[in-house]
Order: sequence, then C-alpha cells, then structure tokens
Amino acid sequence: MKATKLCRFSVAMNGDLVSQLDDMTKANGYASRSQAIAASVRNSLVEHYGHMGKHEIAGTVTLVYDHHKRNIQALLTDIQHDHGNLIIAAMHVHLDHHNCMEVLAVRGRADAVRTVADRLIAAKGVKHGRLVVTTTGEEFQK
Ligand code: NI
Repeated sequence: MKATKLCRFSVAMNGDLVSQLDDMTKANGYASRSQAIAASVRNSLVEHYGHMGKHEIAGTVTLVYDHHKRNIQALLTDIQHDHGNLIIAAMHVHLDHHNCMEVLAVRGRADAVRTVADRLIAAKGVKHGRLVVTTTGEEFQK
C-alpha cells in the first residue's frame, strides 16, 4: 500500500466509550487519541486479514507439552517438517523437568498457517497451544 497523507474524519460514539478510550490512551502511553485509535484499527485489520485465506500473515505458535509423553516430540517434529515452508524459525525452552515450551515463527497464507497451527495445537500430548497472528508489515508501510 502506498503511503498516504494524514486524513481527518469525524467519528461519533458514546461519551462513556470516549472517556474509556482516553483512559486507555493515557495508561498505554499513546501520544494522542488519534494514535490510540490508529493502533486499534491496525489490531482489527490484523484480525480481519488473519481470517482471509489467501492473505499472507506472520505469527507465532506457542506450544507447551511434557516431553516424557510418548511420541510427542517425534509427532511435533513430523508436522513441522511437513510444513517447512511455513515454519521459518523455532525456539525450544526446557521449562522444568517435564515441560517444554516451543515457539515457532510462521509465515504464509492465512489458511495454511491456521491449518498447521491447528494440527500442532491438537497434537496428542500438547497441554496448551496458541497461534498469535500478526502482520508481515506489508499492509502498514508508512
Ligand atoms: Ni525441552
């Protein structure tokens, strides 16, 4: 997307909501209400694009599992090798004697990323897993 100049528009909303917006703007350290609203719009756009199949997204998949559980590591490794084009980096942390955390950086079409994330999170032995979708940055060139 081409850089565009600043565009002013007026928005009407409930006064209580504006008051809450101003509190959040201050608490989060945004310089202005406009900046806080722009960040909220970007969040909504990232979520929107993340559900558009063909759209390219980036993100992370975080998995926590007990590495003593039979086959779990082999299973997770197999899934990752099946999708080497989508999984661009991996970090493994030994949380304690039993528990491992894996953080995978992913990038690709939203539908493909969601499919591999679902497979990993649903793998038998995974205690908790979550896909966090973000932007590749392309949509928000300044
Ligand atoms: Ni480990």
